[in-house]
Amino acid sequence: MGKRILITGGAGYIGSHTAVELQNAGYEVVIVDNLSNSNENVIDGITRITGIRPAFEKLDCNDKEGMRAVFAKYPGIEGIIHFAASKAVGESVQKPLLYYRNNLVSLMNLLELMPEFDVKGIVFSSSCTVYGQPDILPVDESAPIKPALSPYGNTKQICEEIVRDTIHAGAPFRAILLRYFNPIGAHPSAEIGELPLGVPQNLIPYLTQTAIGIRQELSVFGNDYNTPDGSCIRDYINVVDLAKAHVIAMGRMIEKKSENNIETFNLGTGRGVSVLELINSFERATGVKVPHKIVGRREGDIEQVWANPEYANNVLGWKAVETLDDTLASAWKWQVRLREKGIM
Ligand code: UD1
Repeated sequence: MGKRILITGGAGYIGSHTAVELQNAGYEVVIVDNLSNSNENVIDGITRITGIRPAFEKLDCNDKEGMRAVFAKYPGIEGIIHFAASKAVGESVQKPLLYYRNNLVSLMNLLELMPEFDVKGIVFSSSCTVYGQPDILPVDESAPIKPALSPYGNTKQICEEIVRDTIHAGAPFRAILLRYFNPIGAHPSAEIGELPLGVPQNLIPYLTQTAIGIRQELSVFGNDYNTPDGSCIRDYINVVDLAKAHVIAMGRMIEKKSENNIETFNLGTGRGVSVLELINSFERATGVKVPHKIVGRREGDIEQVWANPEYANNVLGWKAVETLDDTLASAWKWQVRLREKGIM
């Protein structure tokens, strides 16, 4: 048996892709997920891809006694990847306390339980949102943290600080903070992918749902930004590429390959793509048209942000390799699969 890893939020979008890559790399995976924004049949998808059924516990990470029981039930967990969190920017503005409780308490529970069970390290899912609108692009890890524009963004900043302070206070484990840019796409098998509940807030699920006819028209939020075509620019990274970075980070942490107890990495491609370019790429990659119209700016949007991923490239020996067209094609294949299965 390989080393045992706990994935919180492992039935979610990035968590499920990471479970696949960890199992493919020989790790034994235990998933904890409260299924608040996911479905238990994701576990079946992971099983079909890898041939291995990960252990699954339906549980909220805010339930500390429940989490303690999970560590006791699965002895020898060596590392944690903590994805479980609420992540809708707009909802966080409406329900700030829900976001602070969910995102902060779950992390603190894990950090308190780790020494009890000799867990060697934790990978924390952070976001490029901590940079706000960076002064220098591409943005590297030394860029200043900007005041958060939403409670959701603030939880990512505070959680980073909680981890940092805990390590600095001499906690007997290591930590890696991974700052994701915009993860998109699905596993090439189309067995797992992004499955938003209700009307999608993020660009790609809205785009693929429009392309398949569930939504009438995609709204492009603004074409008067100070960018070449006026629409916002992001760094869209393939979710499988992103998942693979977690496997490397985990190995680095539990094998103590770094001199530092805590490290921070940007996970992006290094390429900025505008909303309008992305729509064009999707249409080219799939041959499917996306009805869209320009509307006003969305409150709180950053104008442009893309990663300098060199630190991750050099230190982790990791690089995003999938092309944007293949990634968009994978998102489309997943949307078509959802239709075939009658899910949407
Ligand atoms: C947001 C959050 C990020 C979070 C991520 C996942 C901020 C600044 N960013 O990323 O922290 O991790 O969601 O929940 O809070 N767009 C449209 N039409 C749409 C939807 C989006 O034009 O219907 C545009 C947006 O204006 C943006 C781009 O597409 O320029 C990407 O938007 P989205 O997918 O929502 O991600 P972010 O806002 O970048």
